[in-house]
Amino acid sequence: MSEIVWLDGQFLPRDEARIAVDDRGFIFGDGIYEVTRCVDGRLFEGRRHLVRMHAGLEGIRIAATHLPSDAELLALHHELLARNGLTVGQATVYLQITRGAAPRAHQFPAGDVRPTLFLSATRITPAESLRATGARAVLLPDLRWARCDLKTVNLLGAVLAKQRAVEAGAQEAVLHRDGVVTEGSITNVFGVLDGVVRTHPVGTRILRGVTRDVTLELLHAMGQPVEERALLVEELPLVSELFYTSTTQDAMPIVLLDERVIGDGTPGPVARRLGAAFAAALTDPARLT
Ligand SMILES: Cc1ncc(COP(=O)(O)O)c(C=O)c1O
Repeated sequence: MSEIVWLDGQFLPRDEARIAVDDRGFIFGDGIYEVTRCVDGRLFEGRRHLVRMHAGLEGIRIAATHLPSDAELLALHHELLARNGLTVGQATVYLQITRGAAPRAHQFPAGDVRPTLFLSATRITPAESLRATGARAVLLPDLRWARCDLKTVNLLGAVLAKQRAVEAGAQEAVLHRDGVVTEGSITNVFGVLDGVVRTHPVGTRILRGVTRDVTLELLHAMGQPVEERALLVEELPLVSELFYTSTTQDAMPIVLLDERVIGDGTPGPVARRLGAAFAAALTDPARLT
């Protein structure tokens, strides 16, 4: 079965989907995106993704005028999953909105340019074997721009960091700026220090991950002490656990950061409890749309 995507008002086979060379997403990285986890055809925390999508659109000043309503977008997600045979098992839906196609000029195009809307759906296999052993990460300077809270398609900082991680045989890069651990290249980062789970507070230096918010809720529900206070690079040798969170990874323990073994080199108790809590959360009807 050929993969079906949604582009600018129609479902079509992926290899027939065409973006104009003038699209500002291609030319300037002028757009935003979302990746939503789907379980048996339903969206995990779908409404939170829509809220963040709107914040992103506002943040880069793309008007929602020509875009489908939230109800229509949710229906598009569901229909896309159905058309791709993804109503059983796990998948992700990728959504991208750019400012649209217009002759190249940095300022916003004059007139009523329609944003480009693209959605695709992909089956995923949860990373359970990696979760059992724990992941490796490298520590790298955070070279990204000053609005990391916006989930824009301008991802070169993330691309370069992730490539460095892969070349080092690691799964993720942990980023730091001014002596402070910010987040991962495509994840949020948490550490356990003196029994307290710490993560960078929301603000312009990190993306407020949907999984980060769910993780905080799950930790609170477990009665685990948590502080939204950034870890310092100089504190990293003292952490008993480190883990990263994202839509596709849930909470993934890090057991090796560069050459430093974290804890006893196996996933720690907080990450293991979170793994079980996520497994339950993923089938919680209150979190599924
Ligand atoms: C920089 C960054 N931080 C955090 C995340 C995790 O966000 P979420 O949990 O919404 O997938 C992502 C996901 O793409 C990301 O790119």
